[in-house]
Amino acid sequence: MSKITRNGESFLDFKKRSKTSDFPTSFCHYIQSFGETYFWEKGNFHVITKAHHAREVLTSDAYSADRSSFFISRMPKLDLGLIPDFFGVVSKMMVMSDDQDHTKRRNLAAHGFEDQVLERFSEKLLLTVKLLLEEIKDKKEVEFVESVAKKLPSLILADLFSIPAGEREQFTKWSSTMTGFFGGASQYRNEDGIEVNQAALSLKHYFTKLIEDRKKTPGEDYVSLLLNSPEIENFSHDEVLSQLIMMLVAGMATTTDQVSNIMFQLATHPEIQKEVRENKNLIPSMIEECKRFDPAVTFIFRVVRKETSIGEQTMAIGDVVFISTHAINRDMNSDLAPDILNIHRKGTHFAYGYGAHYCIGARLARMEMKALFEELLTGLPPFELDQSKDSIRDHYSLSFSGFQQLNLIIN
Ligand code: HEM
Repeated sequence: MSKITRNGESFLDFKKRSKTSDFPTSFCHYIQSFGETYFWEKGNFHVITKAHHAREVLTSDAYSADRSSFFISRMPKLDLGLIPDFFGVVSKMMVMSDDQDHTKRRNLAAHGFEDQVLERFSEKLLLTVKLLLEEIKDKKEVEFVESVAKKLPSLILADLFSIPAGEREQFTKWSSTMTGFFGGASQYRNEDGIEVNQAALSLKHYFTKLIEDRKKTPGEDYVSLLLNSPEIENFSHDEVLSQLIMMLVAGMATTTDQVSNIMFQLATHPEIQKEVRENKNLIPSMIEECKRFDPAVTFIFRVVRKETSIGEQTMAIGDVVFISTHAINRDMNSDLAPDILNIHRKGTHFAYGYGAHYCIGARLARMEMKALFEELLTGLPPFELDQSKDSIRDHYSLSFSGFQQLNLIIN
């Protein structure tokens, strides 16, 4: 056993200079070109490019989801004393927890997120999607990220949590500050720390008040249903807050980015757009294939907590392991021209992760995207990229990829 080490252009730099249309494939090939599993010196982490190794990491107790040490190592210039509330909230989130703590927190958050609850919510969700698309219905030119992709998840989550209209803007702003910092979009200067801590504190105050209100007057919303869980007495107030904030933060940027990536693929594959317009039954498989091909979450990562190995690669306690979703999504479809977008593919993907931390919001995300693309592809004429304006991918962090601007012409 040994430590296979590789070096080259930083992944983030490569991402940032990739051509918009080539990005998913060129980035995937760049990562794969260094081998199956290797230690990437520039980033100080191991890289996994094979699907069977990814499954191994995501189901083994040798790896922890508690990535606080890695986050802290990325913030050398920041006075950590400035972000006690941010860390307090994040450290109790399910996504940073292992074993029983994780199961307990995830089970709590799953209350109010059961299939039948989401089923009941689907009518409201469809109405929100229809109203959102009304705003662009008669336009010939649309910048999709600001006009649709950012609004969609914040409207849906605000509906799900029953946030009153007047409070929604503030609520969305705090959660995007949290997501940006959490996802690595920040420069991690002291002023960024002060801003994110303020956002965490505001969300804590907001949810504390919301919890009090919903206890007094329960409704059909997600917060009321979660509070109605029989296990609620076993949780501290802070733990409940962290799961509520987690659900909010995790469902925003991921959905915005994924929806934009799918829209870009439709705009640049007119033959696929035509085919799904003619046969709406193909929309769900088109969405799944776009997530395989152009995933929003580009790396899932873990920290080694027991000495272990993957293939020939040894892993020491404290090492960080990055799983490339681009690489593993193509590896698991390697016999079927993985670099081609093929909506008839029967393959699967890791866009929502795998194992104990598999995305708890996957069903809601699928409902949002199905409603959005069904409405778009029935209500809106064919669209293509507006070549007179730039469409710019947004590689604000290593872990996420979406669009900063996606300019479309509606014909
Ligand atoms: C297209 C949209 C989405 C994508 C691509 C996505 C992707 C992911 C991925 C890859 C993970 C696994 C993270 C890991 O293993 O470290 C995850 C976890 C999670 N997601 Fe999503 N997600 C999406 C939408 C949502 C929505 C809408 C919600 C909630 C409203 C949500 C809530 C969560 C939560 C709470 C976790 C942590 C689960 C756990 O730790 O057990 N996600 N998501």
